[in-house]
Amino acid sequence: MRTIIIEKYGSPDVLKIVNQKDLVADEGEVIISVNKAGVNFADLMMRLGIYGKQAPKTPFTPGYEVSGIISSIGPGVHNFSVGQRVVALTGINGYSEEVKVPVNQVVGIGNDVSFEAAAAMPVTYLTAFHMLVELGKIREGDTVLIHHAAGGVGTAAFQIAKAYNAGIIFGVASSTKKEFVEKLGMRFIDRNSEDFVEVVKRETNGAGVHHVLDPVGGQHLRKSFKSLRSGGKLYSFGGSSFVKGPKIFKLAALWRLIRSPKFSPLEMIGKNKAIFGVHMGTIKDFDLMRNEIEIIVQMLNQKKIEPIIDKIFNFKDVAEAHHYIHDRKNRGKVLLDFTSD
Ligand SMILES: NC(=O)c1ccc[n+]([C@@H]2O[C@H](COP(=O)([O-])OP(=O)(O)OC[C@H]3O[C@@H](n4cnc5c(N)ncnc54)[C@H](OP(=O)(O)O)[C@@H]3O)[C@@H](O)[C@H]2O)c1
Repeated sequence: MRTIIIEKYGSPDVLKIVNQKDLVADEGEVIISVNKAGVNFADLMMRLGIYGKQAPKTPFTPGYEVSGIISSIGPGVHNFSVGQRVVALTGINGYSEEVKVPVNQVVGIGNDVSFEAAAAMPVTYLTAFHMLVELGKIREGDTVLIHHAAGGVGTAAFQIAKAYNAGIIFGVASSTKKEFVEKLGMRFIDRNSEDFVEVVKRETNGAGVHHVLDPVGGQHLRKSFKSLRSGGKLYSFGGSSFVKGPKIFKLAALWRLIRSPKFSPLEMIGKNKAIFGVHMGTIKDFDLMRNEIEIIVQMLNQKKIEPIIDKIFNFKDVAEAHHYIHDRKNRGKVLLDFTSD
């Protein structure tokens, strides 16, 4: 079977296809013949070697999520069968023709859920759901500010907020995505030419929003905190500002990291504002995540959400897929196809 590996950190051309032995399922595991694999911003950061302690050591195969068909099951697995359509949260290794996954990271999907929609869900919808619903307890009428609004997590967060009857949803993105973001139903804010704190305050009668989703990190968090109303919640869940481009700029990343703001508990108490740090990759409670994915699949079946898939690349064009995201071109999710040569 073929898999994509990163032998050393660097620009997208370090992504190489290699042949490996077919996988064998151990106790409590299944082998999935991969149909589609999701490409996430985190994969780009891992490839650049700036994903922190959570990054796997080289050589490794990136890929947090896959959809496909179970091709074999290990001893002790009774709730899945060969041939079943599934989606799985793999953590790493997803960029492969085959993956081996413990069953508690696998969820069955109905025949009417496409492999594309399924592979687009685990990371983006799970992250958005975990922040807004599990941690944020989002309620009808709540106002929400989403950064990277046109991206994978951004579009998922919008749909989840909408499904929970949120009030005004602000979406910050590059100017080229204005039409796309507005068409979805967000109040678009241009990330370059507008001050999002000002816009949000102005349009909420000076109060600010109930929820801010910030994957940008660094100094940007200060402004996101300012956009919150009293009682509001800020979710800090990424560091896209540490990524300068497709090549390694470790010093730039380090500099931004050092300049990340420090929040005082007294300030949070005084202003009644909360900050959650969120990293789905380090949550070890797979039952919680599985439960969240099951709710998301239900929402998908009920047509309350619908993953927006921008582009599907053949797995051999994986470097191109990474460049596509580096170039800020994606509107919604990017996937890799493992079904054709
Ligand atoms: N903590 C977690 O568990 C977790 C889970 C999933 C995702 N995340 C984070 O959430 C963010 C979104 O992830 P995603 O996979 O859904 O990606 P994405 O938003 O689909 O794609 C990237 C988008 O981010 C924006 N962007 C901001 N800085 C960028 C940069 N330096 N280079 C390229 N694009 C940049 C661009 O949109 P604009 O130009 O329109 O701004 C780009 O289109 C990432 O920071 C990711 O690390 C965290």
